[in-house]
Amino acid sequence: MAELVTLIIPAGGSGDRLGAKIPKALVQLGGVTLIERAVNALSEVADHIIVAAPQGYEDQFSSLLADSAVVVTGGASRNESVKAALAYVNESSKFVLVHDAARPLASADLARRIIKELLNGERAVIPGLKVADTIKKVSLDGYVKKTPNRAKLRAIQTPQGFTRKALIQAHEQKFDFEITDDAGLLEELGIPVKVILGEEAAMKITTPADMSRALNILLGDARDIRVGIGTDAHAFSSDPSRPMWLAGLLWQDVIGVDGHSDGDVAAHAICDALLAASQSGDLGAIFGTSDPKYAGASGVMLLDEVKKIVVAKGYAISNVSVQIVGNKPKIGTRRVEATNALSAALGGVPVSVSATTTDGLGFTGEGKGISAIATALLIKA
Ligand code: CTP
Ligand code: MG
Repeated sequence: MAELVTLIIPAGGSGDRLGAKIPKALVQLGGVTLIERAVNALSEVADHIIVAAPQGYEDQFSSLLADSAVVVTGGASRNESVKAALAYVNESSKFVLVHDAARPLASADLARRIIKELLNGERAVIPGLKVADTIKKVSLDGYVKKTPNRAKLRAIQTPQGFTRKALIQAHEQKFDFEITDDAGLLEELGIPVKVILGEEAAMKITTPADMSRALNILLGDARDIRVGIGTDAHAFSSDPSRPMWLAGLLWQDVIGVDGHSDGDVAAHAICDALLAASQSGDLGAIFGTSDPKYAGASGVMLLDEVKKIVVAKGYAISNVSVQIVGNKPKIGTRRVEATNALSAALGGVPVSVSATTTDGLGFTGEGKGISAIATALLIKA
């Protein structure tokens, strides 16, 4: 687009209704502040970005946003904040978008649709959604004055787009009543304001409940997370030449365990946790203890096979945790090595390995064998 677009983000509010102890724009949604999300979401359509920060927070905003935006001091009301930012808009900008920091998930596509209308000659373009509730105009003493036809009502969002000239002219007016958006100011001048279809994601965060709704929109399908659990146990072998494989490592000086495979209880427990989380059955059902193909199979090889099953079902492995229960071998000195071996077998996913003894109780405490318990978290990819 040849015409220059400046994006103004009023972020000077305190967020009283959200009730965080910091300004609303600095509150994090999914680990990222609202102001960073708002800037990042629309930066691709803007040549310049000006953010109005709450007084006293300018430096904090500047260091968060670095080179992506100019930070100015906001005012006592949203209108004052927009006006403060407007003073910094360069004359080379033909269009100005005004977008609330409180709407961190609005899409660049929505902004592009606004700009397209401006390029077609509109002076003011705003997004709106049909309303679900019946809306009534009510008198100060609580009586209904009027019920507008719902089909003609729209809930208005941002970004709102204007020609720079029209927006400046609109902000020169003075009113003794509150106008809560910029389009309202242009309406007072009699400038036609075009409403285009808004989007769910451009919702405004006002209350704590809005934060959960926004998180749902943000995470979308990533909300499809699955947890699984798996355990395994083997007895120490009476054959002193039996090698001990555990957590993908060979442990010299420790006699191994009996079993059809290499007897790696940590790897097997993880396999079962992964299979459980993806509803794929369990090790015995899939690999069968009678199948000669898996005689002596290494735990690492089974992990690789299971990972393929899970991935084929459309899951990504988020993380895996395993706890080894037994008197020997002592895991502590090789914990990093064990973690790395299991992680590598799963293609590099985060793995944690812990170990415990059982205070002399049970078959592990009596030194008869070793067991492991694991959990796995999967995310639908
Ligand atoms: N805003 C602003 N300057 C103000 C007040 C509000 O720039 N003096 C901005 C807010 O930061 C927000 C947008 O205007 O991005 C919409 O305002 P609102 O959702 O009401 O936010 P707050 O005023 O922060 O919240 P509250 O009214 O609950 O205190
Ligand atoms: Mg407010």
